[in-house]
Amino acid sequence: MSARRVATAGGAGPRPPKARPPVVRRATPDDITEILSIETRNNPVPWSRQLFAKELDRREGAMLVAVDADAVVGFIACAGQGDSWHILNVTVDAGHRRRGIGGMLVDGVIAALDGRPYDRYTLEVRVSNDAAIRLYRARGFVDCGVRPRYYSDNQEDALIMWREPQEDAG
Ligand SMILES: CC(C)(COP(=O)(O)OP(=O)(O)OC[C@H]1O[C@@H](n2cnc3c(N)ncnc32)[C@H](O)[C@@H]1OP(=O)(O)O)[C@@H](O)C(=O)NCCC(=O)NCCS
Repeated sequence: MSARRVATAGGAGPRPPKARPPVVRRATPDDITEILSIETRNNPVPWSRQLFAKELDRREGAMLVAVDADAVVGFIACAGQGDSWHILNVTVDAGHRRRGIGGMLVDGVIAALDGRPYDRYTLEVRVSNDAAIRLYRARGFVDCGVRPRYYSDNQEDALIMWREPQEDAG
């Protein structure tokens, strides 16, 4: 192809539409099929449809989805348990990782719950899950112990992490 043709193709005509960045929003019942398919592809012990429906209905909690080009590419579920928020599940579809979406979901759920009525967050994560552990540490979660043989598929230990109210929060 000549240089002239390249220049023409790149410079003339309408610009291609700019790709919209992913957005995070509250999940709805219509999202459950896509959430379930991400869950089944990405998690060794997947949640059932019933479990997702129950979390979606939970009064004290939040389920959010990340949407990219009109498709659900990740989700997070967080529930009030005892005196704190418990992050139960956060998953980004394999082809969409390392684009900041997992971080957007965790930040999004903390913003959505807005410290009410609880201002502390906790979660369990496989001790081998470096990606998730780094993501949580970068958001103020700290290691607070281990639950031995917590995961039923391979008896792996869970690292328990807590995030206390942040000093710089408004
Ligand atoms: C953990 C998970 C949600 C991260 O989602 P993601 O969209 O890739 O995360 P982000 O792009 O927002 O990454 C945020 C930070 O997490 C860390 N991180 C994420 N993936 C990582 C990897 N593969 N290796 C090392 N660090 C990683 C990095 O610190 C990263 O920040 P950086 O990109 O500026 O270096 C995703 O890997 C996933 O769905 N895994 C399978 C399900 C799972 O394990 N969920 C957690 C259960 S507790």
